[in-house]
Amino acid sequence: MNVDNEITIKVRDLSKRFDKLVAVDNVTLDIMKGELFGLLGPNGAGKTTLISMLSTMLQPTSGTATLNGYSISKEAINVRRSIGVVFQDTTLDEKLTGRENLELHGRLYGMPRDLRNRRIKELLELVELDQRADDIVKTYSGGMMRRLEIARGLIHRPKVLFLDEPTLGLDPQTRNHIWEYIRELNREERVTMLLTTHYMEEADSLCERIAIIDQGKIVALDTPENLKGRVGGDIITLTVSNETGAQKLVDMVQASDDQIDFSSITRNGTNIMITVSNGESAIPELLSIISRGSEIKVINVNLRKPTLDDVFLHHTGKKMRADTMDDMQRLRFIARTRKK
Ligand SMILES: Nc1ncnc2c1ncn2[C@@H]1O[C@H](COP(=O)(O)OP(=O)(O)O)[C@@H](O)[C@H]1O
Ligand SMILES: [Mg+2]
Repeated sequence: MNVDNEITIKVRDLSKRFDKLVAVDNVTLDIMKGELFGLLGPNGAGKTTLISMLSTMLQPTSGTATLNGYSISKEAINVRRSIGVVFQDTTLDEKLTGRENLELHGRLYGMPRDLRNRRIKELLELVELDQRADDIVKTYSGGMMRRLEIARGLIHRPKVLFLDEPTLGLDPQTRNHIWEYIRELNREERVTMLLTTHYMEEADSLCERIAIIDQGKIVALDTPENLKGRVGGDIITLTVSNETGAQKLVDMVQASDDQIDFSSITRNGTNIMITVSNGESAIPELLSIISRGSEIKVINVNLRKPTLDDVFLHHTGKKMRADTMDDMQRLRFIARTRKK
């Protein structure tokens, strides 16, 4: 971790409204220099809208933000010089080679040829595309394209790199690879990174701090460990054969407050979720309660540590779920728009 005490992105009461819809709702946050910061939230939470404002592509409705000391509304040009962006829909030119795409971008930033060439070589090696640099992008796999885009975002040595759902639609193995590149680039380039994702395990394993965003609002912000720690110790889930039995079990656990040290209990149909400080000692107690209830037939018991999904549920009362169907629909949409 190369985080300094210096604030690189400072957001104050930032909001964006589209007609009646509040896409980003009074967001305040500080992102430190060198930090790998994650915005985690379901589709439609406002993640893209928030980073679109921070990267000056979208005007805020109200509020302020500075990036690298520059105001996003008053000093947009300086902000743009300070950032690199890797957004959801690719803007790579598929008819050009990987190297040509990088060159084009370097020229756009007015980089002198020597510096540009040195930088391109360095980045191509870093994302392991040096062997394929002179092939046209059309022949690249999805993961290779994403790596090229990440390299391109870093050409001009930006202070901040925005990554909007950098692994969307990639297979799990390629996703893991991209995570490694992101980690390495964050370390080697000492660049502040703000990435958005709706994959919980991605935010968990990659980010130093996470802001959980729902309906435009930040509902929690901390390190993944602290976020999970605050949910409580362990989570026991039980499946009971019928709803009457499940409700009876909930009632019995609630009535035996002194026997089981639980912080929350919820029922969803025949499934029960109990948060306890110590799962190993709570399970025997639970079994003894179950044995007293004649209509209660438990068909499944599971004990686990909280995940970020539990954190989301804890703060919003909703499940975040990684909906693969939604991903597929969005990818088809991206594929369609790209053909035009
Ligand atoms: N240009 C726009 N016009 C109207 N509504 C928009 C526009 N862009 C985004 N939205 C809406 O704002 C909300 C947040 O969208 P978005 O920031 O794309 O969420 P996320 O990136 O978290 O999936 C959604 O309800 C979306 O439909
Ligand atoms: Mg988005």
